[in-house]
Amino acid sequence: MSSADTAVKVNPNAPTEEKVLEVEHHTDHLFSFSITRPPSFRFRSGEFVMIGLPAEAGQKRPLMRAYSIASPSWDEKIEFYSIKVPDGPLTSRLQKIKQGDKILLSKKPVGTLVLDALLPGKRLYMFSTGTGIAPFASLIRDPETYERYDEVILTHTCRQKAELSYGLRLVENCKIDPLVGEMIADKLLHITSLTREDYPLKGRITTLIETGQLFENAGVPKINPETDRVMICGSMDMINDTKAICESFGLREGSNSQPAELVVEKAFVG
Ligand code: A2P
Repeated sequence: MSSADTAVKVNPNAPTEEKVLEVEHHTDHLFSFSITRPPSFRFRSGEFVMIGLPAEAGQKRPLMRAYSIASPSWDEKIEFYSIKVPDGPLTSRLQKIKQGDKILLSKKPVGTLVLDALLPGKRLYMFSTGTGIAPFASLIRDPETYERYDEVILTHTCRQKAELSYGLRLVENCKIDPLVGEMIADKLLHITSLTREDYPLKGRITTLIETGQLFENAGVPKINPETDRVMICGSMDMINDTKAICESFGLREGSNSQPAELVVEKAFVG
């Protein structure tokens, strides 16, 4: 028998096994966690990647799902922000992970919510709802975002106040971050709104844009395709509705190969 016959076939695209470094539970249905980053794993801030848990007894292969990377591309670890779905095939197990557990990480991060898919501009809007803030958690910690734009407006809309806590703390930490702290002081504006609890700013992002309340609140003129760029991440309905409104302002959807004025999350596709 030749050595080729006995050699174990190694799939070069197989996910790598990483270790959970930290897990934080923010509410009954939201948590974030970080994992080790393999030295060869490169990604652009805003991209997503497939992650999963090793197959359990009776499972043929591990279940993998697309997750936006919440940490910036320069970070040593990889962070994710997730919802807990009690009977969700992956999140029902994922929400129980502990420090030291194994996570599978695919080798190919991809995505459309990247700076390269937008034409240069003055002001960058990041419209998010719920866990849709994850890719922006990556981008607002990346100095390149502030090198490309004079002003960055991150909006985060949730149903209830507790769901804003991850984003509020993230922005607070950014302000004291040695890498981007000084840059964001007069560039990053974080606007939060709620739809199902009393709060200073109430309403869906779509409503806030249509009524002009968003622009009043931010102290800026309404969206202009000459100067403004937009990234959108939330549920499929939120993405479609927000995108339609932005298109009515004259913004066109861009991609890595053909940058334009607007990009939306595509992690749901495929
Ligand atoms: P609402 O409370 O009015 O449904 P979800 O958890 O369902 O993804 O919702 C997160 C946030 O996104 C909620 O504040 C919700 O508002 C809002 N939302 C849901 N659907 C849309 C939509 N089509 N356009 C804009 N915002 C939306």
